[in-house]
Amino acid sequence: MTPRRWWIVGPGRLGAAWARLLLEEDPDAQLDLSGRRPQPPPTLPPSHRWRYRTSRSWPAPPPEAVLLTVPDRAIVEVAAALAEGLPAAVAVLHCAGALGVEALAPLAARGASVGVLHPLAAVVGDPDALRGAYFTLEATGSAAAAANHLVRLAGGRLLPLVTHRRGLYHAAATLAAAGAATVVARAAAALVQTGAPATDARRALVHLARTALDALTERSPAAALTGPAVRGDTRTVAAHLAQLSPSERRLYCLLTREALALLAEAGLATSAHAEVGALLETACECDST
Ligand SMILES: NC(=O)c1ccc[n+]([C@@H]2O[C@H](COP(=O)([O-])OP(=O)(O)OC[C@H]3O[C@@H](n4cnc5c(N)ncnc54)[C@H](OP(=O)(O)O)[C@@H]3O)[C@@H](O)[C@H]2O)c1
Repeated sequence: MTPRRWWIVGPGRLGAAWARLLLEEDPDAQLDLSGRRPQPPPTLPPSHRWRYRTSRSWPAPPPEAVLLTVPDRAIVEVAAALAEGLPAAVAVLHCAGALGVEALAPLAARGASVGVLHPLAAVVGDPDALRGAYFTLEATGSAAAAANHLVRLAGGRLLPLVTHRRGLYHAAATLAAAGAATVVARAAAALVQTGAPATDARRALVHLARTALDALTERSPAAALTGPAVRGDTRTVAAHLAQLSPSERRLYCLLTREALALLAEAGLATSAHAEVGALLETACECDST
């Protein structure tokens, strides 16, 4: 059955994004939000369909589904606290990609249907970041029904997850999100040294990175990659290495070697690529001595 009454505990970045999505996409949704701050999240539209409290006691009437969107480190403690006064037939979901359903054990022990719904989206400032995202789900029964409803509202898709590989799954997600953002932030810092103002440098490279990532959506890595190393242009790669600082060069070498490895895995490595690889090897050795 689709839940109508939701309780969002911890309406921070993700909790507020779920609240907004429910209000915008499900006209029947009624929301209770419990946070620690005196004021509700500023991103929610005024509506009689939600109310905000600083109390963590179970709302009345009781919710049919709970979204626990507190930080990972608080999930076990908050779940244990919520086990007191648990209403009958409630579904509880947390959204931490690094943790399984066992984090909600005290609730499951008292009869709640529990699950994990993890969005593969970076929800920082964009309230629409959940729309069109992929999600992974570990749940059965009414927790699975509640989660599937949320995925449908987001226009999202489910990605299968073998739950005993959750650590690897979350490492891959972290590499794609924080890893990609870190590379662009480091590249933008280098660009600033060429005269670009910091904000423009970041915007320019985010656009460039987005177009490069878009190319990867429908193509294999080997077909999507661009740049002098991929073209086997040793002279240009040497010029880059000469201009970068030691720490920038380490990052450049690491990523460029991975790009060459992707080409090799696709059976596209040439002697020019081998020459670029040798150049990178020498540069890395110089920086590590
Ligand atoms: N943001 C994302 O991109 C994203 C993506 C996928 C999954 N997730 C998962 O979503 C969950 C929430 O992440 P978030 O980024 O939304 O975090 P967040 O922005 O820091 O929000 C956390 C919320 O929980 C509250 N909170 C913190 N400690 C608490 C405690 N001990 N007891 C009760 N409430 C507490 C915070 O209140 P205060 O504001 O008062 O600190 C805030 O309302 C995490 O499990 C995370 O792994 C997040």
